[in-house]
Amino acid sequence: MKVLMLNGSRRPKGCTYTALTEVAKVLNAEGIETEIIHIGSDAVNGNINNTAVYVADLLRDMDGLIVGSPVYYAAPSGEISAFLDRVFMIAGENLRLKPGAAIVSARRAGTTAALDALNKYFTIAEMPIVSSRYWNMVHGSEPEDIYKDEEGMQVLQVLGKNMAWLLKCIEAGKAAGVETPEAVEKTWTNFIR
Ligand SMILES: Cc1cc2nc3c(=O)[nH]c(=O)nc-3n(C[C@H](O)[C@H](O)[C@H](O)COP(=O)(O)O)c2cc1C
Repeated sequence: MKVLMLNGSRRPKGCTYTALTEVAKVLNAEGIETEIIHIGSDAVNGNINNTAVYVADLLRDMDGLIVGSPVYYAAPSGEISAFLDRVFMIAGENLRLKPGAAIVSARRAGTTAALDALNKYFTIAEMPIVSSRYWNMVHGSEPEDIYKDEEGMQVLQVLGKNMAWLLKCIEAGKAAGVETPEAVEKTWTNFIR
């Protein structure tokens, strides 16, 4: 089994990356592979399509998705927002019923607003959300700060354990013959009256 992790920070090896690697360690110890992809600044430079198509396609072979973002102005980064807007528009079945989780990193505040925005991508795509012992956030400005956030570190470790448990349950369920609910054709309404 494999989990794709997206790093939505402008910094390839900053706090968000450090938080993702902590969850990856736990998943790897549980026998689950991980891959971290840095979105970079292409998304806000009007050049996201190639990476978005690549990730949307890659998701076909993934069992779970973890999205990491720094908090910028009490919201997810513009980079990850633009990127997810595109990926969730085109990835369709490659996301459906796969567990998802979001992690945010902030110096101080805006974390819950950013998490709310990220979790909404999962819930529009029929993805079960994996939770932890608190909301999935860490605090810091520099990567090493994350390790001083003891509660944040525990949140990451519990998240990794819970993601591994759910992935194994889904695999065991499939092996036991639990059927995947069929996808329904979406009913589109622009307004109700
Ligand atoms: C443009 C910008 C906006 C930011 N806005 C916030 C904010 O609203 N709240 C906060 O606590 N930190 C804010 N920060 C700090 C980062 O969220 C924080 O340092 C984060 O851990 C950086 O993660 P990274 O190293 O992965 O980029 C902001 C940083 C930048 C560059």
